[in-house]
Parts: sequence; C-alpha cells; structure tokens
Amino acid sequence: MESAVESLRRRKLHSALGVGPLFAFLFLHAWETTASLSGREAFAYRFSLTAAEMTGLVVKSLLVLVPLALHAGLGLGLIARARGGNDSARYPSYGLRVLQWITGGMTAVFLVVHLSVTWAPRFGGVSAKAIYDVLMARAGTPTQLVIAGLGIASLCFHVGQGLAATCVTWGWVAGEGGLRRARIGAGLIALCFFLVFINNLSHFVAGRALAFEPSTEIHSDAIVE
Ligand code: HEM
Repeated sequence: MESAVESLRRRKLHSALGVGPLFAFLFLHAWETTASLSGREAFAYRFSLTAAEMTGLVVKSLLVLVPLALHAGLGLGLIARARGGNDSARYPSYGLRVLQWITGGMTAVFLVVHLSVTWAPRFGGVSAKAIYDVLMARAGTPTQLVIAGLGIASLCFHVGQGLAATCVTWGWVAGEGGLRRARIGAGLIALCFFLVFINNLSHFVAGRALAFEPSTEIHSDAIVE
C-alpha cells in the first residue's frame, strides 16, 4: 500500500511535468505557429529557429515527448488509484476529474494525428515549407477540422483545469478565495491559448486569421529548407 508521502510525491512529479516542460512548450508552440499568419516564408523561418537540422529535431522531440510520455504514464497510475472518489480538492467534483482524464486521452489522440502530419515527415527530410503547404491543403477538410477543433479544445481545457489542480497539489493556494482565484486565472490562461491556436488554425482553414491578421507578408532570406 502506497503511503500518503509517496502518493503526494507521485502527484507532484506528475503535475511538475505538466506545468514545467509541457507548459513551456505550449508557449513556444503558440509563438512558432503564430508566424503562419505572416505567410509561408515566415512560418518556415520561425520553425527553423527552434529546430532546423536533424540534431535540433531530435533534441526538441526528446524535450517534449519524454515529459509527455512520463506525464501520461503517471496520469494512468493516478486513474488506477482513484477508486471512484474525488480524493482531494484538486478538482471541483469527481465528474470534472473524470473530464480531466477524458481530455487527457483526447489530447493524446490529437497529438498522434497532428504530429504524424506536421512533425514525423520532418525526420524524412520534408521541409517546413512543404508542411505549411500540406496544412493549407488539408486543414479545411471536415475530418481534419473536427480533429483539430476537438483536439485544441481538449488540450486547453486539460491545461486550464490542470493548472488550477497543480496550485492545490503544490499547496500554492489557501482557502476557498485563493482556490477560486487560481481557477479563474488558470481558466483565463487556457482561454488565451485556445484563442491563439484557433486563430492560427483559421489561417490554414479559411486563408485568413479570425483576428490579429498582420497586414503584410513577412519574407526572410534566412530560410532553412
Ligand atoms: C498525452 C496527453 C495527456 C495525457 C494522457 C494526460 C493525462 C492526465 C491525467 C490522467 C490527469 C489527471 C490525474 C488525476 O486524476 O489526478 C492529468 C492532469 C494534468 N495534466 Fe495531463 N495529460 C496529457 C497532456 C497534458 C499536457 C500537454 C499538459 C500541459 C501542457 C498537461 C498538464 C496537466 C496538469 C497540469 C495536470 C494536473 C496535475 C495535478 O493534478 O496536480 N497534460 N493529465
């Protein structure tokens, strides 16, 4: 039987992976993909800044996929131990905790589909410009639209509720008022991510962003193919 100290340590590791490397990557990825609003050249240039050559691709993948796999694995362990109860104040109700599991699973499915189109081909030498073209051609099809829409919504819900839960796990909030403020703040952060990603998706689906459309297309001489 796992002691309370071991259980807390396991939860802390699980949430640290969620709000540490994965959260940092979300910021990076929002910044990377927002370049698409300035056109194909800017998109390719920005992705070349974070991973141009094979070494960069491998390092970036490991920095994201290893924490993600550990987070998902530890999450499955927490589900197995939950035994039908909302064992702490981390989630407002057992139903919302289950929604955290469901959105975690939906995020995993979305990531597999998304990475197989945008990331895996890069290891076969496909350029960032070619990925941009594939996204332009495919993102508007009904299947891809449903996958991307549901995937982004699931991810943002999971991140928002997870951020608030992390504040409890690590003891950063005290009292009802503190918890409510943490939940509102985490919800607003998640909403910002949602709007940024949907805005970027709109560029590929409709040919223009929903909002914040740059007036000119940015070109760069330093494009890495
Ligand atoms: C492969 C996709 C993912 C899966 C399968 C997954 C799984 C889970 C599960 C099962 C929980 C709930 C654990 C519990 O009941 O206590 C959870 C919580 C959480 N997840 Fe994820 N997750 C995924 C992706 C992500 C991503 C991409 C992020 C952040 C960018 C993230 C951040 C969090 C946070 C912060 C928590 C709350 C931790 C806590 O309770 O203290 N997750 N995740």
